[in-house]
Parts: sequence; structure tokens; C-alpha cells
Amino acid sequence: MKIISDQTLSSSDALFVFIPEKKWDKKPYGKLLSTSLEKEIQERMNSKDFEGKMSETLRVFHVLKEAKKIFFVGVGKEKEPMALKKAAGAALREAKKTKAKKVVFLLPEGVDSSKIILGAILGSYEFKIGDKKDSFDVLELKIVQAKKMTSTEISRIQALGDATNLTRELVNLPANYMTPSILAQKAQALTKGLGNPIKVKVYGNKDLLKFKMGSLFGVGQGSTEESKLIVLEYMGGKKNETPIALVGKGVCFDSGGYNLKPTNHIETMKSDMAGAAAMLGIFSWLRVVKPKKNIVAVLGAVENLISGSAFKPGDILTSMSGKTIEITNTDAEGRLVLADCLYYAATKYKPAYIIDAATLTGAAIAALGYEITSIMGNNEKLMSRFKKSAEMAEEMVWEMPITETFRKKTKGEIADLLNWTAGVSAGSSMGGAFLEHFVEKTPWIHLDLGGTAFHESWADEITPKGATGVMVQTLAHFLEN
Ligand code: BES
Ligand code: ZN
Ligand code: ZN
Repeated sequence: MKIISDQTLSSSDALFVFIPEKKWDKKPYGKLLSTSLEKEIQERMNSKDFEGKMSETLRVFHVLKEAKKIFFVGVGKEKEPMALKKAAGAALREAKKTKAKKVVFLLPEGVDSSKIILGAILGSYEFKIGDKKDSFDVLELKIVQAKKMTSTEISRIQALGDATNLTRELVNLPANYMTPSILAQKAQALTKGLGNPIKVKVYGNKDLLKFKMGSLFGVGQGSTEESKLIVLEYMGGKKNETPIALVGKGVCFDSGGYNLKPTNHIETMKSDMAGAAAMLGIFSWLRVVKPKKNIVAVLGAVENLISGSAFKPGDILTSMSGKTIEITNTDAEGRLVLADCLYYAATKYKPAYIIDAATLTGAAIAALGYEITSIMGNNEKLMSRFKKSAEMAEEMVWEMPITETFRKKTKGEIADLLNWTAGVSAGSSMGGAFLEHFVEKTPWIHLDLGGTAFHESWADEITPKGATGVMVQTLAHFLEN
């Protein structure tokens, strides 16, 4: 979808006039509305035919030489969170439904056009595979508003929307289309193009053993698909500047292993690489926005399956850090993957801080539901900055505690650590407490996407069922500021 900004109306297949939910005022539209269209809006609002409620759309039959079809779109009350994005998503879907190729969004002054563009891109995403692939797409979206946007501004927002949709796509692809090797190829694809600032290294089983990553390797050893450690480097800052490290859980399918997941829990486990996918989304965004920073990502890509070579409850794995881990539950595999990735990131790069993202626990759902990401860490300053970014990006997060009791409960008797401890229950926090052993005191934030990365039956104007692409926008905001 090509996105343009303009200050005058031009011909389109569908025109969407964005209208806030308050007393009608034509002033913010300047000279963009014809007298008769303005009258129509006034009448519709007076008769409560249309009230401007968030995402409300109304098609009006009105002759205007610039538009084949005309719609009013409500943007809700001022400062309603997500209102602008959702309204734009609703409008774009309506445009798609009516098969409009050229679409114009007419915005009053004061409406943040970046949020409108982002909402339109997010709302345009659909997961399609095979011969379902060629359904209708809007080709051109023109934003008409008194204030024009520069093409750089537009391309930066587009990069962010596309990054979120890329993450969604990687997560939605079924596990037989998204193996660790394919995930590695998707990372390599991000290095294409002249002057591309991204470098990728992919390590396989042999390398993992050489690195002594017994924890990561152990999870993948039951699969015939080779495990991969994917390392991305974006060096946009000074050569010797301390980097920022991102770490992602890339479990391409989580059967639970010998602690097999039951029916109604196993079906969505292609989504267990959403943390790694979010980091690839971020790298696709870095490629366009090019902040002056050094940023690396370490992704652990494996399949957690059952076979004669799979790891078993009771096994003891030796992680790269040297710490040994008794496997008390093969379904708590994400922390085993992250343990070696975190340690690798912390020791190889000595980063200023680490942020990891992982669909780590189902307990995050019990605690916070499907819209709020459970976050924790070891550094208050970093945490409060991160919360601010989440607020700006309109993604909800909530900090979970890591207490001394939780830390103690991660300790083992015959090995240094247990990957799961019976009787504690605070699942999301316990995941964090385990990971903390591997960050080498580096300032760190852990994002548990267990509830938020994949919505089996929830959808709204900008997020269809399936993968959400959660945290890509927050991370982008955080890395940019
Ligand atoms: N991938 C799951 C977590 C998950 C569950 C994500 C449901 C999204 C939806 C993770 O590997 C897992 O199985 N966690 C267990 C941990 C437990 C055994 C300590 C869980 O949350 O049940
Ligand atoms: Zn699991
Ligand atoms: Zn998992």
C-alpha cells in the first residue's frame, strides 16, 4: 500500500471523512469540506444518525466529483486510547470490503496522522497462505489534512507498521512453514539490499555444542530439525559504542515435550516463537529508520518435540554459564532456550542492557489476560523508561515482582537450578526469577508475551485473530528515544 500526504482532495474510489465524537465543528477541516458535505455531516450528527463514536462508519450517498463513495468515520472522544488507530483500521477494512483501490482519508486538524497511518497498515493485515493469497488489497492511501507530512515521516511510520505485520506473519505461519532453519532464513533476508546496515550469523547444532550451550541444545535435541542460534547485528552507532542486546524465544513448536501439552493447549503452539519474531520485526524497522545506536539480537530457534533423542524429566543440563539445571518439566523449555541466549548476549557483547521477549508462561494469562504484557526486570530506571514507551505506543504492560522467595525457589538440590518448582504458582514471576540467573547483572527487562502474542479468538479493528505483533511498537519507541 502506497501512502501519500496531501493538502487537497483528489479523485478516489472511496473518501473517508474522520469525525470526532463531540459537537460538530467545521473549523479544523479548513477548506477541505464542500458546503454540501459539511451540511450533510451537520444533519447526520443532529439526527444522531452518526455520532462520531470510535470506529463507527456510515456510508453517505452524496455526489462529489472527487469520490466514488463517501464514508464518515468516528474517531471517538479525545484521548480514548487506541481510538485513532482503531478508527483508521476500521476505515481501511471498509475500503477493502468495497474494493476501493485508491482511498482518501480526510482528517481534521489536531488528529495525529501518524496514528492514523499506523492504524491503517495494522488494519490492512490478513494472514493468507497458498491460493487464498490473492485477495483484494488497497493500493494507495492518501492522507489529506491541512498539515502535510514529509515523505521521511511517512516512511518511518510505514516501517513500524510493516515491522508489526512482519512479526505477525512469521508467528502465523504454521510450524511446518516456520522451522528453526526457515526462521534463520527470514533473518538472513533482512540483510539484503545495497548498503544494508544489518549483519546476520546463524549457528547450528555443532556450534551450539562448541559454545557449550547445553540448555538451548537440550530443548531441541528431540527434533530432526536442527536448532539454530541466530545473531543479528545492527551497528548504527560509533564503532566501539556499547551495544543494546535483544533476546528472543524462538520455539517454532512447543509440544511440551514428555510433559506433553493436552488438547486445547497444544494447538496454538506454532506461536511460541513470537519473541524472536518481534525482534526480527524490530530489525526490519532498524533497516529503514537507522537510529545511531549499536543493537544486537540473539535468538534461540528450536522445536520442543518428543522422540528417542528428546530430553526427559530428571535430565540435568549444563548451560553455557556452567550452571546446571535439573529438568523438572520439559514444558518449561522457553527459559532453557533463553538461559543460553541471555548469557551469550551478556558475555559476548557486554551490552548496556538486555531486553528479552518470550511467550514464556500461560500463567501470564491467568494474571493479566490477553491484552496486558507481563514485564519484569532488575533495574528501576530502565523499567520506568520502558513503561513510558509502552504508554506512548498504546500497548499495555504491567510489572510483576521477582522476590527473594521466588529466587530461592529456583534453586535445586542435585543441580544448581530447577527449571520448574512445584507449589509456587506465581508462574510468570518464577520464569523471570529463573532468567535472572543468566544476565550476569546486566540491566535487563523480560517481556512475558504468554497472554498477548497470539489471540485464538479475540480480534479488533487493528488486530485480527492470531498473531498480534505485540511489543514491536513499544520496543521501537524505546530504542528510538
Ligand atoms: N510456551 C509455553 C507458554 C504459553 C502457554 C504461551 C500458553 C502461550 C500460551 C511455555 O513453554 C510453557 O509451556 N510454560 C508452562 C510453564 C510451566 C510448565 C512452568 C506454562 O506456562 O504452563
Ligand atoms: Zn512449554
Ligand atoms: Zn514454550
